[in-house]
Amino acid sequence: MRNILIYCILCIISFGCTTNNTNNKVLWKKYETYFPIGTAVSFPMLTNECEPIINKQFNSITCENEMKPEHIHPEEGWYNWSDADSIVNYALKNGKLIRGHVLVWHQQTADWFFKDGDKKASKDLLLKRLKDHIQTIVSRYKGKIYAWDVVNEVIDDDSAIFYKNTTWFDICGEEFISKAFQYAHEADPGAKLYYNDYNTENPVKYKKICTLLKELKSAGVPIDGIGLQAHWSIYSPTKLELDNALQSYAALGLDIQITELDISLYKGEEKRRKKLPGETCQFTTQLDSIQTAQYNMVFEAFRKYRQNIKGVTFWGVSDKYSWLNDFPVEGRDNYPLLFNREMKPKKAFYKIQDF
Ligand code: XIL
Repeated sequence: MRNILIYCILCIISFGCTTNNTNNKVLWKKYETYFPIGTAVSFPMLTNECEPIINKQFNSITCENEMKPEHIHPEEGWYNWSDADSIVNYALKNGKLIRGHVLVWHQQTADWFFKDGDKKASKDLLLKRLKDHIQTIVSRYKGKIYAWDVVNEVIDDDSAIFYKNTTWFDICGEEFISKAFQYAHEADPGAKLYYNDYNTENPVKYKKICTLLKELKSAGVPIDGIGLQAHWSIYSPTKLELDNALQSYAALGLDIQITELDISLYKGEEKRRKKLPGETCQFTTQLDSIQTAQYNMVFEAFRKYRQNIKGVTFWGVSDKYSWLNDFPVEGRDNYPLLFNREMKPKKAFYKIQDF
């Protein structure tokens, strides 16, 4: 009787351990011979409950916001290095790779870039600022940041429009794209340079992205790869859509990185809007299984294209801190990552290591 009791206690303890922590599962180690596994990190995550998970489970780090133009270069001639430096130092101290995100984007970029006093900046002035911005940042982290998202999201989603109509495009035309790569390469010839975008599995969009990438390559622009943001959902992409897209990008002879992976429980939407009454869903067992299956499917695809895929980065660690709790709908809970709101691993965490 006593032995049975001891046995039962041991079982309960060991069951508790299995459900409450990751045991000896270490995601990046499981993928060590495939590609680095990264996460986006924001400055507060270095000291909150995310840190132990970041440190144990990931061997690559991307700043979620801290290197974006509005954060790192909020005023002309003034660079705000402190948060970005802290994340870079953390990564180096803990032996992690660092991806740089992002040098040129139409969002999260301060207005001063595009102004000359009260007037719109000229093309010459904007290109001069672009060069200063890129070379100052890339030089500072030379040899520390191994890959940069140089240009983000310039291709339009509308099938009838090629480039997005942004202030960059309005003032410079398409030239800012090739210049950005050239400036980054001059500042750190050893860094891998990526074009990064979303909706990259949509056939209309990936044909346009491939056209741009081919043009850049044939013009001798120093571009190494394509970053697929991978803000996906339990509804898309399908296995076929993902396979077709990966095949198209691989055929270009460029490296591929998955740069911002998360799997939303809601259908994709690009524009912000207000929450509808009763819209937030619960993370039911059924949704957990569907999401796990989607994570499993995309990781099968990543493993299949391991020759081309040079990194897979999640856009965060825990559902609790995901940007998708506020985008595109403010205050709508989402559950897109591998760790739940209690920082416990979800089913998907185990499933993608089960091969
Ligand atoms: C997001 C961040 O996660 C949020 O914290 C911020 O408020 C907005 O930007 N594509 C990108 C990322 O390239 O930089 C975005 O990150 C998500 C979409």
